[in-house]
Amino acid sequence: MKTGPQDSLSVTQALAARRSCRSYETTPVDLKVIRDLIDRARRTPTAGNSQGVEFLILHGENQVASYWDATLDEARRDAFPWPGLLLAPVLVVPYGVPERYLNRYQEEDKESSGLGESVNAWPIPYWIVDAASAATALQLLVVESGMGCCFFGQFGNEEKVSQRFSVPKDAQAIGTIAIGWAAENDRLSTSATRERRPLEDVVHLSEW
Ligand SMILES: Cc1cc2nc3c(=O)[nH]c(=O)nc-3n(C[C@H](O)[C@H](O)[C@H](O)COP(=O)(O)O)c2cc1C
Repeated sequence: MKTGPQDSLSVTQALAARRSCRSYETTPVDLKVIRDLIDRARRTPTAGNSQGVEFLILHGENQVASYWDATLDEARRDAFPWPGLLLAPVLVVPYGVPERYLNRYQEEDKESSGLGESVNAWPIPYWIVDAASAATALQLLVVESGMGCCFFGQFGNEEKVSQRFSVPKDAQAIGTIAIGWAAENDRLSTSATRERRPLEDVVHLSEW
């Protein structure tokens, strides 16, 4: 359902309006629009300003079909519970690129951290944190633009996707974001019906 741009949405309103959309109209989305949304989403913070988050855009019928061919074989496709997800005209895969973080943390002002030595030196892989952060911003910007989106896992197909689209070996996909105009026949997943946990259960004031 096309609702048009909602540029007046505040961050709070965009967060409240966002729901995972699993059914799309086939209406194409201009590549320029997607590039602009990504350009704005990458304003999110990155560790040491490493900027090691990159995005694979699959735009239009052929590229999107190529993604699904690599990740969902014909036998499983007939029984796939969200056929409307396969109609999304755009898929974006955010990648964290560890090499950029290692290089950055070898620079003089960061060298003493030891994080430039290897990915194993990182207690938390910040390339994943940063990619997730940009992915969330992208979803909010999609909502602001009036379209729908859904972040979903690649479920072990990461290597197949990387190979098919010539992604460098060390770049790590965090998942895939479907983007497009929401269709009216969207079907919620069972996860979406779970109650939001009370704030008191998730906030730990001064002691857990
Ligand atoms: C890390 C992550 C992985 C997810 N993987 C899937 C997925 O593989 N398939 C799917 O349909 N939804 C997936 N989702 C969407 C969640 O099911 C959804 O965000 C959650 O149920 C809350 O519903 P809402 O997004 O509509 O608020 C994923 C979300 C996140 C953040």
